[in-house]
Amino acid sequence: MTASDFIQGFHDLDLEVADVPLPVHGRLPAWLRGTLFRNGPACFTAGAVHLRHWFDGFAMLHRIVMGDGPVSYSNRFLGSRSRLYAQRHGRLGYRTFTTDPARGWPTRIRDYLFPNPGDNGLVSLIRHRGELLALTESTPQLRVDPVNLSVTGRMQYRDSLVGHLTTAHPHIDANRGEVVNLLTRFGKVSSYQFYRMPLGGDRREIIGTLPASEPSYNHSFGMTASHIILIEYPFVVKPLQLLFGSTTILGSYVWKPELGTRIRVIERGTGALVRTFQAAPRFGFHHVNAYHQDRELIVDVSVSDTAEILDSLYLERLRSAGPRPFPYLLRYRLDLASGTHCEQRLSDEALDFPIVDQRCLGSAHRVVHGVGARPTVRGGFLDRLVRVSLDGSPPRQWSSPRCYPGEGLFVAQPGAVPESAGVILSVVLDAAAERSFLLVCDAMTYDELARCPLPHAVPFGFHGLFTPALT
Ligand SMILES: [Fe+2]
Repeated sequence: MTASDFIQGFHDLDLEVADVPLPVHGRLPAWLRGTLFRNGPACFTAGAVHLRHWFDGFAMLHRIVMGDGPVSYSNRFLGSRSRLYAQRHGRLGYRTFTTDPARGWPTRIRDYLFPNPGDNGLVSLIRHRGELLALTESTPQLRVDPVNLSVTGRMQYRDSLVGHLTTAHPHIDANRGEVVNLLTRFGKVSSYQFYRMPLGGDRREIIGTLPASEPSYNHSFGMTASHIILIEYPFVVKPLQLLFGSTTILGSYVWKPELGTRIRVIERGTGALVRTFQAAPRFGFHHVNAYHQDRELIVDVSVSDTAEILDSLYLERLRSAGPRPFPYLLRYRLDLASGTHCEQRLSDEALDFPIVDQRCLGSAHRVVHGVGARPTVRGGFLDRLVRVSLDGSPPRQWSSPRCYPGEGLFVAQPGAVPESAGVILSVVLDAAAERSFLLVCDAMTYDELARCPLPHAVPFGFHGLFTPALT
């Protein structure tokens, strides 16, 4: 075994297949029916240009159907303008997270006057009007046919909102029938714009706007039924530099720990700023959940102590055997009345891609699922699924030699109460077999129930969704 055999998860995948039946080793629960969609990069070259970072690769979508017949698998590159340009011209045509598209000044000025960002939606997927939307942090969002995974068009909003970056983690509030997201606008005066939109709609309405002289990098935000939580880690950008200067997104941001972490809480109904909290400098991608408990607002996040994690995900760094930072679970307890707060580390486990049972979003949860790693292995990578219980009972783990799981999604057993019976679904790279498999494990015990080998090794992805529909 080598500590770096996970690097297979950063190789290009050229093969696209449709509805390939998968063998099932083990036993799938009889109640498990639906479709798992996954998103992530699968090509790290543009002609002779080698993309530099995990977040740069061209998106591929994957679909696994578990229903009446055999389990089946399909995969297809996202037919984005970004990828089509690279295929046609053998080079990058659009700015990526870290790879320089070699834009000259005329192009930079043209892009400022007539924004034309890339549409490589490699981060996540949401449902929209019977289709999928492939999301990333640039603003174009591509509509995708959930059956054949082809692009059917671009999401067109019938409103006048303008912004430069957004998140691929909108909140879907089924109770209120709306989606809420953040659109950051850069300029002489920059601002965070939170908006709501009816589910299935195409008109966004501003909830509230917060000014920012140096906006932070925001991968996600928190939300309850009544409040929105924006955590501004001190990884910030000078807006004009992003617009005109450095030609990559990551290269425009600077780690400024002296700023600390600023947490701003706004009322979801009015958009009014309720409180601002000042906390120790940290960096994080993912909110886990937020809820009110007595007079406190509880905000759970997955964080690191610095933004070095972004640098650690350059492909060159990933191929090296140096140590890697992994995030951990942190709880902010915010007292909205007094303006005081405290921070509490929730677990010693390394944990990324955190999720809770979606039925607990906005209310208290007791369990967090995620992907973990052995911190003692130098040059290792995320190599286990972890279930953290917040009641103090020992964590549960699933791992297997030379196997590297991606994000686990919790699927509840029909009729079961929240945070009880269900399964975790994860696409796992088996480095020894040089292919991936769908893992189904018990969400309570983390015992493996079944694995379904895929026809190839799937490059490491980011997020996905499970729908009970058999599409
Ligand atoms: Fe994410």
